[in-house]
This record gives sequence, structure tokens and C-alpha cells, in this order.
Amino acid sequence: MSVLIIDRCVCRQRTFAELLQVALEWDGDVDCVMLLTGAGLQCGRCRPWLRQALQQRVPEIVVDLAGQRDATVLVAHFSNPSSTP
Ligand code: FES
Repeated sequence: MSVLIIDRCVCRQRTFAELLQVALEWDGDVDCVMLLTGAGLQCGRCRPWLRQALQQRVPEIVVDLAGQRDATVLVAHFSNPSSTP
């Protein structure tokens, strides 16, 4: 099984751990976190996992690439934290 660990919004250079702290200040409201930080609002690739991480209150999500149509794009995007969309 090939997996990818997603732990940040690459576009905004914000880790899910950082965003969890913001979420705690806003009663776990994911939409507020996105609006306040911009995370998830650029390319949107991190958005499903950002939501999942904040809802589950975990700093990273392990994604099974076998179930992803765009696995190659995900790996390229999230494996290089300095990449841009
Ligand atoms: S990776 Fe989060 S908006 Fe692009």
C-alpha cells in the first residue's frame, strides 16, 4: 500500500498542527479557520484533509494513494512543501 502523509496547506505554508490551534480558538469551526488563515482557499487540494484533520483534531492525515484518482498530482504537490499550485 502506498500512502502519503498530508500535514499542511502547501499554498499557505501552514501546518495542520498550527491550524488546529486556530480551530481550538474558534470552537473547531473549519470555515472560520480557512477564512482567518487562507488555508484551503488557494488551490483547494488540501481542503478535504484539512477538514478531516480539524474535525478529528489530528495534525496529519494518512492518505491511501490507491484510492486517489490524482495520486501523482497529490504526491508532487504535498511532497515538496515549497511548491506552489
Ligand atoms: S494546498 Fe492548501 S490551498 Fe493549496
